Amino acid sequence: MTEAILLVGGKGTRLRPLTVNTPKPMVPAAGVPFLTHQLARARAAGVEHIVLATSYLAEVFEPYFGDGSRLGLHLEYVTEEEPLGTGGAIRNVASRLHSGPDDPVLIFNGDILTGLDIRALVREHETTGADVSLHLSRVEDPRAFGLVPTDATGRVQAFLEKPQTPEEIVTDQINAGAYVFRRSVIDTIPTGRPVSVERETFPGLLAAGAHLQGMVDSTYWLDLGTPQAFVRGSADLVLGRAPSPAVPGRRGDSLTLPDASVAAGAKLTGGTVVCENATVGEGARISGSAVLAGATVEAGAVITDSLIGRGARVGARTVLTGAVIGDGATVGADNELLAGVRVWCDAVIPAGAIRFSSDQ
Ligand code: GTP
Repeated sequence: MTEAILLVGGKGTRLRPLTVNTPKPMVPAAGVPFLTHQLARARAAGVEHIVLATSYLAEVFEPYFGDGSRLGLHLEYVTEEEPLGTGGAIRNVASRLHSGPDDPVLIFNGDILTGLDIRALVREHETTGADVSLHLSRVEDPRAFGLVPTDATGRVQAFLEKPQTPEEIVTDQINAGAYVFRRSVIDTIPTGRPVSVERETFPGLLAAGAHLQGMVDSTYWLDLGTPQAFVRGSADLVLGRAPSPAVPGRRGDSLTLPDASVAAGAKLTGGTVVCENATVGEGARISGSAVLAGATVEAGAVITDSLIGRGARVGARTVLTGAVIGDGATVGADNELLAGVRVWCDAVIPAGAIRFSSDQ
């Protein structure tokens, strides 16, 4: 049975303030910590043993997931004293693997929502006899990603990190953050210092003549690294566009968790989730958004593509579009916050303080 490593130790800086109190993989998507979806999908593909490589806010994972038996998994946790980067993190957990030297080991970034056929990636790895196999996705604008051009047989030709000029954009295939390593290759990563698998390990293996195989799988794929992507991913899980066995309820226009209170005249659409102990007032309209546990949305608020943190409060008639409201923050009544605004945890914005349009 193939075992897996999950990389969950990043600081998640692009997602702040959501990641001030919560590591990115534990931020709820469709009502449960995002990591739950990845663990459940790996389990569904036959993986039983998963080692979590933790660093930032490491202490919150084990109390929630325990030994993994609730998900039918055997989970182990390894914490880095200093962050070791993606490659260093993989090397640092190697002693927990049971695989033999030639066995395949799955590795997943902890912030990717995808319908990848995990078994197909392992099969591709075994039939091609590669040292490392990578899931590649095709995207329209690859500038924020690592490009991975391949030859006609799928063999990787280069790794080009975050290309900027048109000449550098030689392919639309990007590193999608799921790999299969031959176990013995993991043991060649240096110990005791930070190593980036994308910037150091992969280019180094290629230069040394190793066989790196790319498998393009054009199924659903989203990197949840930014607030807008995270809220999109949560909505896609609720709507059923993104696959996961772990969504806690029926797929549809919205999901309200038990113990949440939504007024009869409120309207929830576009994959909105309202988490436990959250309250939504009369006449509020919430679309494509996530209202986290214990948050309050007052009457007549209009919220689109936004994330409302734990215990945060959005006042009456306030309009939020593409906004992130940090845990415990208060946005008073009659504000209008648009376009990527991030309100920090516990901040207080008085009633009628900020608008992007006239109030008349
Ligand atoms: P940003 O700071 O917003 O770029 O996010 P990030 O810290 O998560 O970095 P990135 O998205 O590049 O990380 C890819 C994956 O590797 C994520 O699942 C991270 O949790 C994980 N990761 C990144 N750095 C480390 C590290 O030093 N140790 C461990 N264990 N995991 C890491």
